[in-house]
Amino acid sequence: MTECHGTPARKRLLIRTWGCQMNVYDSARMADVLAPLGYAPTDVAEEADMVILNTCHIREKATEKVFSDLGRLREAKAARGGEMIVAVAGCVAQAEGAEITARAPWVDIVLGPQSYHRLPEMVARASRAAGAVIETEFPVEGKFDHLPEQAAPQGVTAFLTVQEGCDKFCSFCVVPYTRGAQYSRPAVAVIAEAKRLVALGAREITLLGQNVNAYHGEGPDGAAWSLARLLLALAEIPGLDRLRYTTSHPRDMGDDLIAAHRDIPALMPFLHLPAQSGSDPILKAMNRGHTAAEYLRLIETLRAARPDLALSSDFIAGHPGERDADHRATLKLIEDIGFASAFSFRYSARPGTPAAGMAGMVDEAVADERLQEIQALLRDQQYRFNQSRAGMEIPVLVTGPGRHPGQMAGRSPWLQPVHFPTPGDLTGQIVTVRVTATNPNSLGGELPAGSKPQASERDAA
Ligand code: SAH
Ligand code: SF4
Ligand code: F3S
Repeated sequence: MTECHGTPARKRLLIRTWGCQMNVYDSARMADVLAPLGYAPTDVAEEADMVILNTCHIREKATEKVFSDLGRLREAKAARGGEMIVAVAGCVAQAEGAEITARAPWVDIVLGPQSYHRLPEMVARASRAAGAVIETEFPVEGKFDHLPEQAAPQGVTAFLTVQEGCDKFCSFCVVPYTRGAQYSRPAVAVIAEAKRLVALGAREITLLGQNVNAYHGEGPDGAAWSLARLLLALAEIPGLDRLRYTTSHPRDMGDDLIAAHRDIPALMPFLHLPAQSGSDPILKAMNRGHTAAEYLRLIETLRAARPDLALSSDFIAGHPGERDADHRATLKLIEDIGFASAFSFRYSARPGTPAAGMAGMVDEAVADERLQEIQALLRDQQYRFNQSRAGMEIPVLVTGPGRHPGQMAGRSPWLQPVHFPTPGDLTGQIVTVRVTATNPNSLGGELPAGSKPQASERDAA
């Protein structure tokens, strides 16, 4: 390939992303880092000069997908006569770098989540090196200080990572090992990035962190800012109408954050707060640091602060030591709270985690049965929550065209997808929609006659 007049030759980049929203954010940043090298996106592996698999290690299934994908990439690379850089990034790269290069010697680059700013240099080294280039140290320089400033447009809704890593060490979880110790970005950097995202068209920003409500970044005054303090500052940005944050830990729901749900209209009335289990002995074995009663009390306090708050959660079925009584306690907690949506998983033993070595492994079939029961209950609750919006007039942030012609799609304050017919393109506006149809996973509605888009969500509050 030749380069002329200083313009890099056009190359194609495919990034496949698994796992949490932080990986989605990281994938966008990797694309930013590689753009100056001439890499433009493609969806087709056979066309790609470079393929990055941004991987997730959280459960065994997620990890296995990486290896089956690598098998397919081997053929695509061979079909291009070897002219393809294959990179494995993300949490599997961090945890199993050596195994990747042993099992898939056609991989050129293995890089952990803290090394993305080093990608250009690694690409240059990979084209010279015989073996794979591996970077899975936790480098001393922060990746956020070295990633390019100009974030690519993400659209009307955007993600912004403010915190990474986790110090909680729940018994079952790999995150403290794959993402390392807790780190919070300085508030000034976060505010500047939020302003750039708004200038690029974002009206809703979701702050991301593995443990986002443990945020304690340096404030402009030199003191550590809490997440609540950061949210207050972000709520001042003109044009930024909606704020969310995920994922949070019950132990870090401080009084000021609870008050923020009462005091900041832009903070959407939807909170993802993983409970994992409703049984005290299992919560203890999981090292979650709270009881079921404490979780329930916390939800009560939150609902008192923001009465229209809808809740979401994560649950694990079949953690080691879980008896039928523990499972019943989980169902009871779910019934007592009533979630608007939630995720649930069968326990997956992860190498190197304390739970993997615990006594009382639960039979897979039993864990599956429990999971089915949890999921049936959660599905039912989600449907009921959607049905409870019937007839309401709700503010919808329009994200783009709907599935059918003449339709637009958007998001409710409670994160439900909403579809409604309209002749115009209302992307980026917040409109009032009357809910006329409730489905298990979405809402349908119509614009009330004579309705006008709101200049700002705050006008509705
Ligand atoms: N930081 C978040 C969770 C991140 S992982 C928190 O503290 O809640 C996302 C979810 O994956 C977890 O909430 C948990 O429900 C699930 N999970 C994590 N490790 C798991 C494992 N080994 N087996 C099954 N589910 C797991
Ligand atoms: Fe994993 Fe627990 Fe940290 Fe969440 S809080 S990332 S579940 S160790
Ligand atoms: Fe998966 Fe890593 Fe996120 S293990 S869930 S990609 S932090």
